[in-house]
Amino acid sequence: MPLPNLEAVAEKIRRAPRLTILTGAGVSAASGVPTFRGEQGLWRQFRPEDLANIEAFRRDPVLVWEWYAWRRERTATCQPNVAHEVLARWSQRKGCAVVTQNVDDLHIRAGTRHLTRLHGSLWELRCASAARHGAGRAGSNRASCEHSWRDERVPLPEIPPRCPRCGELARPDIVWFGETLRQEDVKAATAAARCDLFITAGTSALVHPAAGLVHEARRAGAVTVEINPEATPVSSVVDHVLAGPAEEILPALDLLSRS
Ligand code: APR
Repeated sequence: MPLPNLEAVAEKIRRAPRLTILTGAGVSAASGVPTFRGEQGLWRQFRPEDLANIEAFRRDPVLVWEWYAWRRERTATCQPNVAHEVLARWSQRKGCAVVTQNVDDLHIRAGTRHLTRLHGSLWELRCASAARHGAGRAGSNRASCEHSWRDERVPLPEIPPRCPRCGELARPDIVWFGETLRQEDVKAATAAARCDLFITAGTSALVHPAAGLVHEARRAGAVTVEINPEATPVSSVVDHVLAGPAEEILPALDLLSRS
């Protein structure tokens, strides 16, 4: 049974001069990347406090890296799905921006342009001596080395990996709990939220500042839409709820908005 407001949203997609899409783990679910809080979600199996913060990394960098190595191995076998492909196509159009919380880089692999990655990438590393994201330096009092690099090798040759420039421990270039996002990413995401049509897809809308973008969009007068098979804290706030999987709803919207 087609969703009642699918046509109305497709019409808005057709007409909106500035269109922004915020994505979360749900958009990669159909590619086989586990979500965080869903049934088989990562935070159901593992404790974020043991793995995704600077204290855990200082305590046991091997444990943290073994977990990220496992996630890299799992994600390396995943391909962008039709939801990523639709968003990649939309991102070619003037005035369209994609903001993601995902660290799997499937949006990049699908060819998405004007992409802001709020939480970093599984495939990027940086020297752990660098004091970024508000976290203190990892102990030594040498000048911090700001080196960061991309490494898609699976498996990584060495766990924990080391900074190729200074030899210090390396860490995933991912925003951990308790850390602040890069200012330039927050600025880009906030600017993108000030649009005509704001679609949030596949996120539980629990983690800030990403979860605040829909309110930023509303304040800017944007029409807001949520795509999610389940209700979230913003379902009662948005103008249109499209209750279903992104890999079904986005291609349907794409088709309707092009006809
Ligand atoms: N299509 C659309 N939405 C889906 C689908 C699907 N096929 N499958 C699941 N969902 C929805 C779930 O109902 C849930 O609301 O996607 C959401 C996934 O929520 P989370 O697992 O909490 O992921 P996300 O919102 O991206 O998490 C935000 O939290 O753990 C941190 O840094 C991590 O970026 C992450 C942030």
